[in-house]
Amino acid sequence: MCNSHGLRLQVVRWEMSVGRFGCCPQNVLHSTFAQKNRIMFDFFFKKRELLPLPYKRELHCHIIPGVDDGSQQMDESLLLLSELSRFGVERVIFTPHHTAPRFMNTPEIIQPLFDEVKQKAAEQKIPIECEGFSFEYRLDESFIELMQTGKYGEPACQIRPLYGQYLLIENSFSHAIPAFDELAERLLSDGYYLVLAHPERYLYYAGHRGRFYHHLQERQVEFQVNMLSFAGYYGEVSKKMAYWMLDNGYVNFLGSDSHYPQHMKLLDKFLRSKDYAAIYDQLCDCIGNDHF
Ligand SMILES: [Fe+2]
Repeated sequence: MCNSHGLRLQVVRWEMSVGRFGCCPQNVLHSTFAQKNRIMFDFFFKKRELLPLPYKRELHCHIIPGVDDGSQQMDESLLLLSELSRFGVERVIFTPHHTAPRFMNTPEIIQPLFDEVKQKAAEQKIPIECEGFSFEYRLDESFIELMQTGKYGEPACQIRPLYGQYLLIENSFSHAIPAFDELAERLLSDGYYLVLAHPERYLYYAGHRGRFYHHLQERQVEFQVNMLSFAGYYGEVSKKMAYWMLDNGYVNFLGSDSHYPQHMKLLDKFLRSKDYAAIYDQLCDCIGNDHF
């Protein structure tokens, strides 16, 4: 074999190996395999489109910086607001904890921080209205004091509703607070509307949830379920409770209960999930976030 013929054969083998001859069976096989792989890759890894939150008004979040176990820095607060805006929220009512003895927040403490968050959000052109602030009130002994003595300010400032006469209240996660029922009764008789935060997270009620929620509902207490409960973030029992409440007419309001950027990542993932798409219409139909 002459040298030039040998060289030509080598070139032909190289051209075949890199696919110049696309019609050869080996390359057709390779091409089909790659195409199938790409389809499989898209199927498993391509992000589903994000569906917005089923409400435009956020009414449960811990975004005021440095006052509870939520955001600790202004930058983090602005990031949380920006993310909520990306999820479709247009208005926010901030609800820092009012919990003895850790978080004895008052309107006087929160007001200047709220003003600062509002100003910075406007400066950064985050398209969200900082509508106001209230508190997530734990109905415990400190709340009795708040009602009885006016310890934290003038009477007009003692209890600050979410909106109108609506109050966001919570129970303890570890046990049912003995004074809870009595305090709830008293607030109701004083003309407040009560919204119980994340009822699906009080696991001590899981075993007899029907009786517990029915009893509260009869007394005009309404329920705010956390979005991430549907994603299983607080555990399987809370997830089951959230779905049970949705299917049995016990979801009146929803909230992100945002504390940290990690919550936003998880929420982003959930808002792209098939599970969320399956309940989206049902959630939109039952909640009152945008209507009170
Ligand atoms: Fe909360």
